[in-house]
Amino acid sequence: MKRLFPLLLFALVILACGGGEETASEAPETEDVAAAPDIDTDRIWKVRCIACHGLNGDMGTNGAANLQEATSDMAYRVNIITNGSENGVMTAFKDILTPEEIQAMAKHTMQFNENL
Ligand code: HEC
Repeated sequence: MKRLFPLLLFALVILACGGGEETASEAPETEDVAAAPDIDTDRIWKVRCIACHGLNGDMGTNGAANLQEATSDMAYRVNIITNGSENGVMTAFKDILTPEEIQAMAKHTMQFNENL
């Protein structure tokens, strides 16, 4: 038993070190953050846009554009999300969302049209 104890201790130290290394190497996580900025477009959609456009973009409340059929480009979408629609029905989001979030949302709306 006297001989086993140092061995056990040695094993424990090795185990502890192994575990430590794993938590220290979080490199993939940092890469993910860089690739996809921390913007939850699904959440923003549900909070800010769903009331008019619906979960799938085709609800059309208040004459909201059907995003499953819309073919407009990114520039048009970024502009309408930033400044609102000319007829004033769609809210301007420039004081609510950051430019990065608006960009991400414009991209998000592209996904509703399967032909894009
Ligand atoms: C108060 C209702 C309302 C809300 C809320 C709303 N929209 Fe709209 N949206 C509209 C209306 C109405 C139009 C059509 C405007 C037009 O044709 O001039 C439109 C048009 C658009 C278009 C242009 C589609 C095209 O190509 O014709 C995009 C993109 C868009 N909305 C995205 C969003 C996003 C993203 C949000 C949330 C951040 C949002 N909308 C929230 C009412 C709304």
